[in-house]
Amino acid sequence: MEEKDLKEGVSRRNLLLGGGAFALGAAFAQFGGMVSKANAAPMKWPWPYEKLDPAKTAELAYNEWYRVFCGAAVISSIFSQLAEKVGEPYKSFPVDPFIVLEGGMAGWGTICGSVAGANIASNLIIGPRIAGPDCEHGHIIGSNIMKWYGDTNLPVYVPKNPKANKDKIVQTTSNSPLCHISVGRWMKASGHALASAERKDRCARVAASVAYKLVEDLNSWKDGKYHEGVQWNAAKNFGITGQQNCQDCHGSNIPTAPKAK
Ligand code: HEC
Repeated sequence: MEEKDLKEGVSRRNLLLGGGAFALGAAFAQFGGMVSKANAAPMKWPWPYEKLDPAKTAELAYNEWYRVFCGAAVISSIFSQLAEKVGEPYKSFPVDPFIVLEGGMAGWGTICGSVAGANIASNLIIGPRIAGPDCEHGHIIGSNIMKWYGDTNLPVYVPKNPKANKDKIVQTTSNSPLCHISVGRWMKASGHALASAERKDRCARVAASVAYKLVEDLNSWKDGKYHEGVQWNAAKNFGITGQQNCQDCHGSNIPTAPKAK
């Protein structure tokens, strides 16, 4: 099969299936094809960034949620604009497979897809923390968005044409970046079921709120004005990776980690 046919076949199948593990694998195959075409000149990471409008980004994320759910919606809201402003590698980046971030990763209620998507975008744009001070902000912005997400009464962003909760929406503070806890606290406070139009609108607004916040931070980083360090570092402070709300799971009996020998 010609590479071109393969690529077309793959993107067609992606469209047909619209998600799942197969699409994820297929998209990486497509990605691989792209790199080999450029002939041993893989895209240099991190990728160029141009400042974006947070409100426009949030609107895109809100609407994209109804196509590809939270994580892919956040990535799409930013990368679709950068594809226009910058071009490659954003134009070829396979956003849609990140639909798998939905429901806290394939429905397991682990990390909220919106913050997972924000971390993927910030690391592609700025770089990995292991690459030194120029790149560590990809990690710092991602980490601080996790903290902001748990501390904030969400959703904060109000879309132009909300699909539900038109008069008023219940806001909740999750104290956690976990989908299960975030969605669960909102469902308890609002009384709406997982499959309701209200809950879907809520999560679409959360994705929009996260996209808004991420673009604000990326813009400030681009201007050389993002000077925050990591605000929460459980590994350093507690000797174990973890989120902030220790008591939610451990009650008042929070264990201490074994010390390094
Ligand atoms: C989402 C739930 C959750 C949160 C939040 C959480 N933990 Fe845990 N943690 C667990 C579970 C479950 C275990 C496994 C306990 C076991 O198997 O006995 C564990 C294990 C641990 C362990 C190692 C095993 C042990 O029991 O000694 C330490 C230390 C620990 N947690 C500390 C913390 C600290 C400190 C925080 C907050 C910074 C925290 N945890 C937040 C659920 C959580």
